Amino acid sequence: MLKVYIETYGCQMNVSDTEVVFSILSAHGCERTQDINRADVIMANTCSVRDNAEQRIRGRIEQFNIEKKSRPGTVVGILGCMAERLKDSLTEDGKVDFVAGPDSYRRLPELIESARKGKPAVDVELSRVETYEEIIPVRTDSNGVSAFISIMRGCNNVCSYCVVPYTRGAERSRNAGSIVREACDCFERGYREVTLLGQNVDSYLWEEPDGSRVSFAELVRRVAEVSPLLRVRFSTSNPQDLSDELLDVMSAYPNVCSHIHLPVQSGSNRILEKMRRRYTREWYLDRVRAIREKVPGCGLTTDVIAGFCSETEEDHAQTLSLFEEVGFDTAFMFYYSERPGTLAARRYPDDVPQEVKTRRLEEIISLQCRKSLESYRSDIGKRFTVLVEGPSKKGAGQLCGRASNNKMCVWDDTEHKAGDYVEVRVVDCTSATLLCELV
Ligand code: SAH
Ligand code: SF4
Ligand code: F3S
Repeated sequence: MLKVYIETYGCQMNVSDTEVVFSILSAHGCERTQDINRADVIMANTCSVRDNAEQRIRGRIEQFNIEKKSRPGTVVGILGCMAERLKDSLTEDGKVDFVAGPDSYRRLPELIESARKGKPAVDVELSRVETYEEIIPVRTDSNGVSAFISIMRGCNNVCSYCVVPYTRGAERSRNAGSIVREACDCFERGYREVTLLGQNVDSYLWEEPDGSRVSFAELVRRVAEVSPLLRVRFSTSNPQDLSDELLDVMSAYPNVCSHIHLPVQSGSNRILEKMRRRYTREWYLDRVRAIREKVPGCGLTTDVIAGFCSETEEDHAQTLSLFEEVGFDTAFMFYYSERPGTLAARRYPDDVPQEVKTRRLEEIISLQCRKSLESYRSDIGKRFTVLVEGPSKKGAGQLCGRASNNKMCVWDDTEHKAGDYVEVRVVDCTSATLLCELV
């Protein structure tokens, strides 16, 4: 049996894809190892979204080569978005033996076999139909409570800064029935939470053979009906497509968690237009208003990019003021990193100096730190139902788990275990954790 080791980088889609890869390979007589020193096949499932993501992986490839030299016969493969972007150029210096893009994982057994015979192998063909729908992933999460389910692949938006449409290809939705079956299977195996994944989940659309259509809101409803004990989360929502119908499903089903990750990217209409995001600041704020009205207490998180092409101090001030106005619970904050081949790279000079990008990013981060603390503080005194994920980082006698709004809770507890639902009351907080007690 070949021992296979995979390191996963990038977004949750990659985590989910790695699980598909393990499933495909285990059907071909391979077994997973978490020990790189014993691996016959070493892989990285990679991300290209920012340059530093790729640089990190370049460093890992060097490390993998040290392993390879110490154990002849070991092969190294690159999967995922960087594989798709850089294709066979990755094999040029002999450090990488095989390359598989996100839609080529069914061919991995062949690619690995070829590489082991000393013949570099590359498959980066993108597909219009591949969704790996019938493949039951080999779950790699450590708690056995929370699972990812990929509901669509690719992306049809062409946000001008973003490499994803090039690395993941055209958007396609997965068969709704197969998603619901996977959710049932997770529940039967003890999972108590599923996260439905896509780059733009609100544009999910499945057409049944009889012509009837399943929207994202309808899909969430069907998954929520698997069991009231199965929590449903989803990511990522795009402001332009976030529907009232979805908000209605969220408010009707208590097991659909009250949390929306709604990347804003910028608070300036001029920049949003240049980014080719298809909404305005006003539209975004209106969606936030609708969320707060229809799903009271809903957690709200976002992504933002500082220093996009031509961004002025005035544009930046608009981002700060939007952050001030909305009060996100947390945010993933980045400075703009030009990606080769994207619309922005072709059309707009990357003209905000690095030190300005860094300073603006720091301003956003420090504002958001304050807002996070405000948001977490506002939960003090509230009661939440929490799904236990396991021992907290502190360990001994303390458990952790998330409230419906996605905030991490910790509390002293020696009675419960992962997968239980418990009632807690918030007594204190940091800017990233609610400190609670059992009620
Ligand atoms: N599909 C998701 C985002 C996927 S990429 C969406 O549409 O929101 C995750 C985040 O990385 C993006 O939301 C964006 O904030 C950031 N990002 C993408 N490309 C980037 C770039 N070129 N430079 C910096 N950040 C980028
Ligand atoms: Fe990238 Fe935009 Fe697609 Fe998100 S919606 S993956 S940011 S192109
Ligand atoms: Fe990265 Fe690809 Fe995800 S570029 S963010 S791993 S879709």
